[in-house]
Amino acid sequence: MLGLERMFNVPNRITLDDLHDMVDALSSALEAKNAHMCGHSQRVAELSLLMAQRIGLSPIEQERIHIGAHLHDIGKIGIPDVILNKPGKLTDSEFAIIRQHPEIGGQIVSKVKVFHSVVDIVRHHHERFDGKGYPDKLCGTEIALGARIVSVADAFDAMISMRSYRPPLNVSEAMVEMERFRGSQFDPAIVDVLRRLVNNNELECINYGELLTG
Ligand SMILES: [Fe+2]
Ligand SMILES: [Fe+2]
Repeated sequence: MLGLERMFNVPNRITLDDLHDMVDALSSALEAKNAHMCGHSQRVAELSLLMAQRIGLSPIEQERIHIGAHLHDIGKIGIPDVILNKPGKLTDSEFAIIRQHPEIGGQIVSKVKVFHSVVDIVRHHHERFDGKGYPDKLCGTEIALGARIVSVADAFDAMISMRSYRPPLNVSEAMVEMERFRGSQFDPAIVDVLRRLVNNNELECINYGELLTG
């Protein structure tokens, strides 16, 4: 056993950096299958971390949210590529299949002991503040704070990224949309945190390329 551990270079203790490498590898595997997702998990993770810092959460909670955000869409591994990569509008039944990804993701991460603490983030990142989300129709603060943060980061990143069926929004257009769903889809307090980051030009540290100049 010891020999094997040495062969795989298993450290005595897994550090946060090791854990981060693992989740980065997992989300890169997902994104390699889906061209439009390129870099999405990483940007959502960076933005979620930034918001967790601004809210003043403890460093441990910040890192937990960062790791959970990296893994938020990992359940899409279980969704057929033809649906994930379909150009144009999805049918109702295809949409229903896509909507299974938070549950699948929750099951995947619950199989790894070190990821147990992020199951709530992965499973609940598509809940809505008004209780109309999925999979569990949780409402308001019933939804874990980490999941509420990732939900805002996820939607914002999706809006300003290129998708096969529409061009990207610029940051101010995306903020109009975020404000429109403030309090219904999103936790209003988290939208306020995002707005402050945008107004203070604090998103430049995230790899948005040319998107932020728009
Ligand atoms: Fe998702
Ligand atoms: Fe996502």
